[in-house]
Amino acid sequence: MASSIVSIINGRPAEGPAAGRVDSPNPSRLADVVAEVALADAATFAAACAAAKQAQQLWADIPAPVRGRTVAAMGRIVEANKESLARLVTRELGKPYTEALGEVQEIIDTCDFFLGEGRRLYGQTVPSEMPDKQLFTFRVPVGTVAVVTAGNFPVAVPSWYLVPALVTGNTVVWKPAEYAAASAMALFELLQAAGLPEGVLNIVFADGPATFGGLEQALAAGTLDKIGFTGSTAVGARIGELAGRYLQSPCLELGGKNPMVVTPNADLTLAVEGALFSGFGTAGQRCTSLGTVIVHESVHDEFLAQFGAAVSAAAVGDPAAEVLYGPMLDQKFASRFEEYLGWIQPHHKILGSSAVGRIGHASPRAGFIGDPEAGLFYHPTIVDGVQADDALFQQETFGPIVGVTTYTGFPDAIALANAPGYGLSASIYTNDPREVFGFRRGVSAGMLSVNNSTSGAEAHLPFGGNGKSGNGSRQSGIWVLDQFTRWQAMNWDYSGHLQKAQMDVTEIAADLDFRLKA
Ligand code: UN1
Repeated sequence: MASSIVSIINGRPAEGPAAGRVDSPNPSRLADVVAEVALADAATFAAACAAAKQAQQLWADIPAPVRGRTVAAMGRIVEANKESLARLVTRELGKPYTEALGEVQEIIDTCDFFLGEGRRLYGQTVPSEMPDKQLFTFRVPVGTVAVVTAGNFPVAVPSWYLVPALVTGNTVVWKPAEYAAASAMALFELLQAAGLPEGVLNIVFADGPATFGGLEQALAAGTLDKIGFTGSTAVGARIGELAGRYLQSPCLELGGKNPMVVTPNADLTLAVEGALFSGFGTAGQRCTSLGTVIVHESVHDEFLAQFGAAVSAAAVGDPAAEVLYGPMLDQKFASRFEEYLGWIQPHHKILGSSAVGRIGHASPRAGFIGDPEAGLFYHPTIVDGVQADDALFQQETFGPIVGVTTYTGFPDAIALANAPGYGLSASIYTNDPREVFGFRRGVSAGMLSVNNSTSGAEAHLPFGGNGKSGNGSRQSGIWVLDQFTRWQAMNWDYSGHLQKAQMDVTEIAADLDFRLKA
């Protein structure tokens, strides 16, 4: 049965008529509508930011350790609901159940990490140049935060924003992807159950133009202090431009064209396993999914043979069963993926399945589990022979497709890894420490893996990218604190008279001409 979902502002359903309605269907059984979603307009989005602004001071006044206890409760509540939330993620987004459980675990890990931050949020005491004066630093919340998230990680990635933003004393307006509305609403309800006061966390469902308009109105009204956005590079650039007009720097987590370098001394079995998981797990719909394998020419044929065999044998289908991957997240992603398939050219060689494109009765996939016609299922596609000027090499191709190219000298591998201009995640398979550190120095990605795949980052290391993958902002761990707090410096002079910095400083005379006797 479909649930009916509306935005919640200040603890109450949003007032006024909806700006439109959309369904969030189950992508593995499109006839199963998971949620009917009422969309808000730009003014409603801005009203949510105003409500968050109103609630912010009171929330910031609650002692940080108490906010930390609330985060602890969130983690326990999510843990107690782990299976039902994972089942919903599988139903609404088509993510295999084991992966969905991992996704929910990522929220719990995030809460476990940040519950203690309520008791730390350290500032510093700093010595002054002058006597009877003390210097301090404090972390202060930025204020109100708008969090706009994609649906490929419908609950884990949002938690990377919501949890640290809340523990540091900010209030939040969260705008999840419409096609992930039921999962988002479930997480919202679980977080609310931890006892958040009204207006501290608000959830708004809106389409792209209404969201952008709402952000613009709230920025102009001074009720929005920070934007966090996970999504495409093109939309990220527009958000960065908008925020920049208000002298703000958003937290941007954008796309990737994540390379995997396979060197002559690599363990090929391990590399194939990594390429299979990061290229085709989640149907290639992670921002950290593998884009192109850059394999040394001497091991190319062997790697390709093993990779082709592994992909051909992989189980695809019903995400409730034991499969490598299920359907595309939503029709929007299926349609875009079909455009990417149009980039395949005559000089490419295709492996990995019996056909390219949508799986159906007319285009079957051996070993498919379930009814392919019921959902948005696509053949896995390996494209060998991609070249540096191919669109398939240069652009992110969200979906179950992986390019393969070759290199001769190690510097060429580094140049190819950087060439598309993204910079999220990059991996190398090698047993040579010089190559490991040469790769680290040469590759511009924010996250590197050695003898491991491009996806599957742990929730307490800095997560984020450079170039077309982001503006250098980092989520997760201690590093995200710099997104949701600002440093405030304070000096306190208790000498009773004005002491001028740099001028009234005691000097100790040194004999700089002093030399040891020869
Ligand atoms: C994303 O696709 O937006 O590192 C995030 C990973 C996951 C998160 C991916 N832990 O693959």
